[in-house]
Amino acid sequence: MALNEARRVAVVSGAATGLGRAYSQRLAQDGFDLALADLDPCDETCTEVEAAGGRCLSRIVDVTDAGAVQKFAAEVAEHLGPCDVLVNNAGIYPIVGFDDLTFDEYRRVMEVNVDSVFLMVKAFVDGMRIRGSGRIINIATQVISMTLPNVAAYTASKMAVVGLTRAMAKELGPHNITVNAVSPGLVRTETNIAMNPPEIWEMVKTHSQVIPRTLMPGDITGVISFLASEDASLVTGQNLYVNAGAVMS
Ligand SMILES: NC(=O)c1ccc[n+]([C@@H]2O[C@H](COP(=O)([O-])OP(=O)(O)OC[C@H]3O[C@@H](n4cnc5c(N)ncnc54)[C@H](O)[C@@H]3O)[C@@H](O)[C@H]2O)c1
Repeated sequence: MALNEARRVAVVSGAATGLGRAYSQRLAQDGFDLALADLDPCDETCTEVEAAGGRCLSRIVDVTDAGAVQKFAAEVAEHLGPCDVLVNNAGIYPIVGFDDLTFDEYRRVMEVNVDSVFLMVKAFVDGMRIRGSGRIINIATQVISMTLPNVAAYTASKMAVVGLTRAMAKELGPHNITVNAVSPGLVRTETNIAMNPPEIWEMVKTHSQVIPRTLMPGDITGVISFLASEDASLVTGQNLYVNAGAVMS
């Protein structure tokens, strides 16, 4: 397909399913071409992106692998052009008590949730800096502001994502690159449905949230769209909760 320089390019990690798939579809509807990275094939997401009028490049990429991430970034530049918006969404959230949490499991959560953000930003930020413009959106979680058991590694990793977000916002601001975090509440993705029994969803909806409606992936996409838009050009270093009021900051 011929390179259309008028179109903007968004890169989304963890785009095969769940929230990353929804973000990709929304960004395509907003006029972006999409580059998708996941351990799994992103065929269904690509079909949705193309149906929305966007070009789609997808690759099997382990975002904890520095070499694979660099190779992916080179392919994005070659086939779609420079990255305007980077959404670091790939993540894992195992539920395991601290006593049972092994160092290997803890390290894997930190690798997938935190190191991947570092590697992806390193791979795409030079192009943004050269062009004097860019948007980086890192997915955190409302869990960082709660006192939940059995999510020590996850909580630590997403706190680190917010810390990295603020630090990068400070250093990249002079280059007109915004860096923000988005912290969803409990959202019905396939992974999350499999991990939480019905009573948890009911409890969160009726007792934790102030708006008693279970969050769907499409409820988070508007904030991603906003942060990628011109209207958000002076929003940086922030962590936006989209959680029906379950945690207020
Ligand atoms: N679902 C929720 O309620 C919720 C709430 C708050 C935050 N989040 C965060 O949103 C993100 C997505 O959550 P989800 O529920 O859609 O998850 P999901 O499991 O549905 O999707 C995650 C995707 O990331 C991919 N992935 C995992 N490790 C990877 C790796 N090393 N390299 C490349 N891809 C990898 C998976 O293959 C999968 O397609 C995660 O960062 C999660 O922590 C989710």
